[in-house]
Amino acid sequence: DVVHRIALIPGDGIGREVVPAAAEVLEAAARRFGFALRWEELDWGCERLLRTGAMLPADGLEALADLDAIFLGAVGDPRVPDHVSLWGLLIPIRRRFRQYVNLRPARLLPGVPSPLAAVPAGGIDMVIVRENNEGEYSEIGGRLYPGTEEEMAVQEAVFTRRGVDRVLRYAFALAAARRGRLTSATKSNGIVHTMPFWDERVAAVARDFPQVAVEQYHIDILAAHFVQRPERFDVVVASNLFGDILSDLSAAVTGSIGLAPSANLNPEREHPSMFEPVHGSAPDIAGRGIANPMAQILSGAMMLRHLGQARAADAVEAAVAQVLAEGGPRTPDLGGNAGTAEVARAVASALA
Ligand code: NAD
Ligand code: IPM
Ligand code: MN
Repeated sequence: DVVHRIALIPGDGIGREVVPAAAEVLEAAARRFGFALRWEELDWGCERLLRTGAMLPADGLEALADLDAIFLGAVGDPRVPDHVSLWGLLIPIRRRFRQYVNLRPARLLPGVPSPLAAVPAGGIDMVIVRENNEGEYSEIGGRLYPGTEEEMAVQEAVFTRRGVDRVLRYAFALAAARRGRLTSATKSNGIVHTMPFWDERVAAVARDFPQVAVEQYHIDILAAHFVQRPERFDVVVASNLFGDILSDLSAAVTGSIGLAPSANLNPEREHPSMFEPVHGSAPDIAGRGIANPMAQILSGAMMLRHLGQARAADAVEAAVAQVLAEGGPRTPDLGGNAGTAEVARAVASALA
């Protein structure tokens, strides 16, 4: 059998509930399609930080380098400042392994009500391509004159031609393979250096993709259109921060943030890619066994596809869709009263 070696990092909060649940579904897929998953389980996260003083061992990142993929739950604990925990684990993985594409599909699945009254079933099928390595997420800047009337905080955004072009090329190629429509989100009327630069690079890269229709929106009105007519979007490309915000919005209009998967991709495959839900550690519901595992399961399907197990990936997605369409158990975020484990079991048996 083919063996795929996967780092399993449940992380914090509901990550510790949805990751084991999703891993069981992926195991069921492996059995059915005849391959093996060898999990390298890692206890990295805020509990470890509070216990030992470090989110992960000093040589931790290097230990991931020759694995086939990383399957992550979520990072974040109310006892630890978010900028400490996220810059201690999640963001270093995305950067060290040059996972510069954050792919966040949003589909309205049959049986899932959208909060938008006007959207027909199946009416939303878009994918956010989020720049994942630079942009507004920058360590450049600082705090000055603390505690005085002159106190200030400065944060620089960094957009390199290499960094912008590579994510744009990925997004254009994806649009060419889908419905041929690419939407770029910027804010060139208010942010006068980085955003006009992004627009110029869109125009430059577009010349290599004449089959793709490009449209540019300012992020503010694009957010309105995501609510008013989400069905007209196909591939949406955005900077790190804008893509982050748009992908919680696209998740919400397709029913629940508990359904939204994501892939942090190194498209050249020089390094492992990482698969995790769009949502976070949800401290408000953690420990109660009621988190929706479907976003984690669907992230697992994206991982299987990346590993070359396309039939298994399709089967996992079909099993989730079947449970939702046939009125199977659902967690409270979707209006049900089932728990995490029950939903995962229903998906695993639909798969078998
Ligand atoms: P969140 O996504 O954790 O939660 C937002 C809301 O959605 C909460 O009400 C939560 O209960 C609900 N929710 C999220 N996932 C759900 C699921 N699977 N099933 C049912 N309900 C779900 O966002 P937040 O509250 O802004 O962040 C909480 C912590 O997670 C913070 O520390 C934040 O920094 C971190 N975070 C981490 C990641 C990541 O690891 N990739 C992503 C986002 C937020
Ligand atoms: C996400 C999260 C992270 C991000 C945070 C927790 C740093 O919101 O994965 O969407 O902004 O990338
Ligand atoms: Mn986010």
